[in-house]
Amino acid sequence: MRSVIDILDYSVDELEVLMDLAEDMIAYPDKYAHSCAGKKLATLFFEPSTRTRMSFEAAMYELGGSVITMEDAGNSSAAKGESVSDTAKTVSCYVDLIAMRHPKEGAAQVASEAASVPVINAGDGGHCHPTQTLADLLTIRREMGGFDGLTVGLCGDLYYGRTVHSLIHALSRYKNVKFVAISPLELRLPDYMKSGIDVTETASLEDALPSLDILYMTRIQRERFDDPKEYERLKDSYMLTPDKLSLAKSDCSVLHPLPRVNEISVKVDDDPRACYFKQVLNGKYMRMALIYTLLDEARRSSVKAEKVGIVTGQPCRNPRCICSVEQELEARFRITLDGVSRCVFCDSAAR
Ligand code: NCD
Repeated sequence: MRSVIDILDYSVDELEVLMDLAEDMIAYPDKYAHSCAGKKLATLFFEPSTRTRMSFEAAMYELGGSVITMEDAGNSSAAKGESVSDTAKTVSCYVDLIAMRHPKEGAAQVASEAASVPVINAGDGGHCHPTQTLADLLTIRREMGGFDGLTVGLCGDLYYGRTVHSLIHALSRYKNVKFVAISPLELRLPDYMKSGIDVTETASLEDALPSLDILYMTRIQRERFDDPKEYERLKDSYMLTPDKLSLAKSDCSVLHPLPRVNEISVKVDDDPRACYFKQVLNGKYMRMALIYTLLDEARRSSVKAEKVGIVTGQPCRNPRCICSVEQELEARFRITLDGVSRCVFCDSAAR
């Protein structure tokens, strides 16, 4: 049985198959209208969400399935002290599939190890957000025809921005993709994200714009800052206006996972290069393709995925990791491609 924690859980070929399936769903919706009839999805959101939760729910309804939701999950059983594992085991008794968002990094991994149904990570703290990446990939493929050779600008909060981290993982597997990381010094990409990719870092959106095929704008995320003054100082770092966009190529696509605060002026919305609302719709189709595929795979196999983890015995030092709160959860470390021993839940380096 397969869960989706990180976009790297899918090979490039599998992602292409998912995108092809989404295209088929767009072209022939009737073919899929009852394909998940009798199946239930649970949406467990321990962090605020509008579009991601609704996108999952709309996707399941369009496939003929139904949804139960633990609204404001952070204020329900978790507030009584229930662990993520116990919640996942309990909810597995009610549904065929779980989509979960949680503020702690690695929480979806923990849920997937406890659940008896597939778990989809709908965002775990500042770590990963694979289904947003599915929306991003379909949008890029539809707008640019493919991924090889693209220069992709990532702008805003690159430190805590989980959408950016998952998108880099996905795109770095295509040929000759270059990244331009545009952020204030304090919100630069974490080091573990930079290994093995072609990335230039700058603080200037204006300098980067002329070279970009894709501009991926992100919100400076108030909820990730421990110090509100630091957020106030950084929150207006970037704002894309029609004037600035005039520096970009005529076929550059502007993406944003949304919600936007003020980082893209509404005056940009009518520019044909603005793709962020198309991205929302593409996200629903990719989630339909994912739900359909996971339920189909779960029907064919009941083998639980092998647990990763090589070294145990030392604590994870990341205070945002699920290890810091989950009962009796021992940190596990594996050696990643950059040769560093990293926590399997949040990817932070062992010290
Ligand atoms: C993003 C997220 O939750 O990480 N939004 C989303 O899922 N569409 C980005 C954000 O909240 O800024």
